[in-house]
Amino acid sequence: MKKWPNWYKLSSKTKLLVKVAAEGEPVILTGPPGTGKTAFAEALSEYLDADYLYYLCSNWTTEEDLFVKLDPAAVALTMTGKSEFAEKSYNPGVLMKAVLTSQEHKVVIVIDELDKAQEHVDNLLLHFLDKFEAPDQYGHLISAKKENVHVVITSNKLRELSLPLYRRCFRFEMSYLDPEVELEILRQKSGVNTQVIKGLLKFVDAIRKAEVKSVSLNEMLKFLTMLKHAESRADVQVLIEGYIVDDADVHDEVKKLSKVMWKALKNN
Ligand SMILES: Nc1ncnc2c1ncn2[C@@H]1O[C@H](COP(=O)(O)OP(=O)(O)O)[C@@H](O)[C@H]1O
Ligand SMILES: [Mg+2]
Repeated sequence: MKKWPNWYKLSSKTKLLVKVAAEGEPVILTGPPGTGKTAFAEALSEYLDADYLYYLCSNWTTEEDLFVKLDPAAVALTMTGKSEFAEKSYNPGVLMKAVLTSQEHKVVIVIDELDKAQEHVDNLLLHFLDKFEAPDQYGHLISAKKENVHVVITSNKLRELSLPLYRRCFRFEMSYLDPEVELEILRQKSGVNTQVIKGLLKFVDAIRKAEVKSVSLNEMLKFLTMLKHAESRADVQVLIEGYIVDDADVHDEVKKLSKVMWKALKNN
């Protein structure tokens, strides 16, 4: 096994998550947007030196997307005598790909934002986690090499996931990184002066605690990166409203922050 990738910062809580997921236990990650749920799965695949298979759920996710999907264009071409298209008529879905890959290699499967799919998809996943097999185009079941399969499911809680699936997995609520770690990442990636970043983090901490909005690390990073284009206090405010918070309730605080930041930027 390789070292845990440096770019994904771990808290003491997420260190345990790594150990459980590395054992092959399926995990369900919940928590506000931008808390590193999807990125965790990427980091896990690097750590395990595993193939990374990503599937983003939608309201239209079907059984076919998970197992085998018929390609109507390839079927039509086959029927006109172009037999070379016959084997392209069926494409493996994400779970079938995982089953096939697992024969030779470790694989991390990400079923991202499962709450966007309809509930019947939960049952298909539950069945997969029970048996570790997937049906091919003829309905024949192909078994995965279970010890090579690591499943990461994420949810933004638009709906409750089905209880049996929930119970089958290790449930983990992702939270924001410690402020010192956020400061370090933002300092390294944005190059903006520490005083400005500290001011931003203090403001964001208050916004998060008051549950006005769940501000992500990425939003802060984009804001700080664009700050170089600000030519006035008003510009700073427009950037705050565009990336951090647009709620009229905190209008006065936004104005105050933009003043402090503009002063710090000018003095720099
Ligand atoms: N623990 C972390 N260490 C380093 N970067 C992180 C971490 N958590 C989040 N990020 C950053 O935030 C971005 C958004 O995270 P993402 O995984 O897309 O969030 P989510 O899936 O929870 O909405 C990532 O691309 C990454 O740059
Ligand atoms: Mg995500």
